[in-house]
Formats: sequence, structure tokens, C-alpha cells
Amino acid sequence: MKSHEQWTSKLGFILAAAGSAIGLGAIWKFPYLAGTNGGAIFFLLFIILTIFVGAPILIAEFMVGRNSQKDAVRAYQKLAPGSKWHYVGYAGVLFSFILLSFYSVVGGWILSYLWRGLTGSLTDADYGAVFGEVISNPVEVVAAQFIFMLMTIFVVKGGIQKGIERASKYMMPALFLFFIILGIRSLTLDGAMEGVRFLLYPDFSAITGETILMALGQAFFTLSVGISVMVTYASYLSNKENLTKSAFSVVGLNIFICLLAGLVIFPAVFALGFEPGEGPGLVFVVLPAVFNEMAFGGVFLVIFLILLLFATLTSAFSILEIVVAALVKDDAGRRGKISWISGLLIFMVGVPSALSFGVLSDVQIFGKSIFDFSDFLVTNLGLPIGALFISLFVAYRLPRELVKEELNKGTKGLGILFDIWYAAIRYIAPVGIVLVFLSSLGII
Ligand code: PFF
Repeated sequence: MKSHEQWTSKLGFILAAAGSAIGLGAIWKFPYLAGTNGGAIFFLLFIILTIFVGAPILIAEFMVGRNSQKDAVRAYQKLAPGSKWHYVGYAGVLFSFILLSFYSVVGGWILSYLWRGLTGSLTDADYGAVFGEVISNPVEVVAAQFIFMLMTIFVVKGGIQKGIERASKYMMPALFLFFIILGIRSLTLDGAMEGVRFLLYPDFSAITGETILMALGQAFFTLSVGISVMVTYASYLSNKENLTKSAFSVVGLNIFICLLAGLVIFPAVFALGFEPGEGPGLVFVVLPAVFNEMAFGGVFLVIFLILLLFATLTSAFSILEIVVAALVKDDAGRRGKISWISGLLIFMVGVPSALSFGVLSDVQIFGKSIFDFSDFLVTNLGLPIGALFISLFVAYRLPRELVKEELNKGTKGLGILFDIWYAAIRYIAPVGIVLVFLSSLGII
């Protein structure tokens, strides 16, 4: 049977797209990057760059997906027949593969924490030591990563409506609620205000080129733009929906959850005597400590870890979905088999990343661990280059009228908003991305 599925409701699409965006980027990466890059100034730059560079590209990906109603590769083939633009889609599939290979490692860490939470070993523990143990035990990291990938495969093989949409609908609101409760606890700790200042009062003298560029990379990562994931998701969307509005919902929710994550982490960092520049372990070390300060903290921690696991899974679904959709090509009968094969291959490619904090910690590629190198390859090369090509495709290859008509669908006409967006996609986004790219290569 050949048919292209559709989301069953508008809310389903927004939640699924937000589910792809909100994940480890906002909850794990954002706090540790802000912690090592000046706090508030990083947050401010991140917001500005998300709005002026990330959001226009998100709208561009939505536009390509909905207009073509095709997966990442065939979308470009349909809109620019006979050209080489579909290599943008192939690159997206390839980078998705690498992205999920290390993303699933951190997904596995969450499972390890969940296990420890359930067995009670996260109460009054030395949280730094626990993190060290979780990331370095070879059998545990690989087993946990494997289970995380199995969960991802199970949902993706069921197709978008049954799997991704249903799960997203309940998990995301629950996660918001929980973050708000956690924020209240963290903000009422003694000495919390210093953390609030760290996150919200920027020190402009601390701006460096490096900070700007890190913030731009983070903007792409958290919005899931650059590898055509959002092209694939929007291809399941009907003509009735207003793409720009959907994009703003996703951007708004994403910034909001970064703010919440920051308001949970930093007050606790200062109140409980941790270091903001702790690095990738920050969230894993600080969060259990905050729960430890709460009545019934052990139970809440377990519930929270389950929600965090779902936020991570909804991002992982989207990454596997682009690979599977590109290979399935609307032939629903092949979805199950292709989900299994690609998911298991991604797991195997990810094993060295999983081991790179323990037995393979001496292996270096260009001075980085295997995990860090994979992250660098995707975040600093794959996403910026992909986003650049997507902006060029929409701004210079597609006819302006076609783009305008597509974005006006489901609206009363965007008016001046369209012109602002078009200028952003033509000039601001490509120039911004070239700067990130050059810098990540160390050229500027
Ligand atoms: N946006 C996800 C996160 O912040 O965790 C990660 C991600 C998903 C990046 C999908 C890119 C992507 F295409």
C-alpha cells in the first residue's frame, strides 16, 4: 500500500515537532553550555540567534516538507527535479545516523539513572561519583544504549500517528508541569538568587566570538534544524495549518523549557555548592541533589527521569524517522523491517561513542574523544552546512511566489511578516551560518 500519512490533529503536529526540538539539547546541553560560557550572556545570545537565524530556517524546512508532502530526499527531488539539491536530503539522513548514534548514549545514561533511582541508590549519594560510574562501566553503557534504541525502534516502526503523536501528546505537558514544580523548589533554596542572577543578568563584557558561535550551534541543535528532520515532519501536515504560527509555537516552547531548565539548575548549583562549569555531567550531578532536598524526593526523581526519558525519546523518534521515511518511500509494508535494520545499525555505530568515557577514553580523533568528535561532526559541521543549503534552496532556488503561497496557506495572509522572514532567510541566516562554519573550522 502506498500512501503518505498525515498527522491526526494540529496539536499532534505541534507537540511532535516540539517533542523533536525539546530534548537533551534544552535540558542537558543548554545548562552545561551556559554554565561554561558566561551564563546569562550565552542565554541572551541563544534567544536572539534562535529567533533570527534558527526560526527562519525552521519555517523554511516546514515549507519544503508541507509543500512537497515528501520525505527529506524526495522533497528536494520533487521541488527541484533533475538538480542535485536532493543531496541535501541524503546528507540529512547521513548526519541523522551519526547524531542518533551518540544521542542514544545519553539516552542510555538516563536509563541507568532510572535504574539507580528505582533501586534507591540515588538518595544521599555522592552524585559526582555516581555520574562517573554510569558513564564508564562498559557493559552498562552499551546495554543501556541498546535498550534506548529498542524503545526508539518500537515507536518509529508503528508509524507517525500511532506512535509518535500519541506519546508526545501526554508526555510534553507533563514535563512542563514537572519542571515548574522543580523550579519552585530550586528557587526557594537558600542562596538561590545568585543562580538567577547568573542566568538572567548578562555581563556584556563577557561576549566573545566563541560564545556567539556556541550559542548559534546550540540554536540549531535545540530547534532540530539542518538535517531536514522538520521537512519530514511537516510532510505529514495538511494544507489547513498555518506553518509560521506552528513554528513560533515550537520556538516559544523551546526557549521556555531552556529557561525552566536554567531556573532549575543554576539556583541549585549556587545554593548547594556545585560548579556551573562542571561540563556534560552538570544536569546529572545537580538534579538528583535538588530532589534530595525535597520531601519524597526519591519518588519525584523517578517520575522526573521517566519524563526526561520521554523528552529524549521524542527527539530520538524524529531522528530515526527521517532515516526510515527516506528508505520506506511511502511503502508502508517495509516500515517495520527498515526501522529494525537502521535502528540496529545506528546502535552499532554508536557503541564506540558509548565506550569513549571508559575503556576507549584514550582513543582520540583530532584531539577529541569519539563521543565528542561525533557531536562536533554533527553540531558544528552537519547542522550548519545543512541549514545553509536549506536557506539557499528556499531563498534562491524556489520561486518567491511559490514560497509565499505555501506560507500563506491557513492564514489570512502574512503581509509584512513574510517580507521580514524572506529577508532573514535570504541574508541574515546564510551569513550567520557561514560565520559559525568558518569559526568551527578555526578559520576566523
Ligand atoms: N533538538 C534535539 C534536542 O535538542 O535534543 C536534538 C535534535 C533532534 C537535533 C533532531 C537535530 C535533529 F534533527
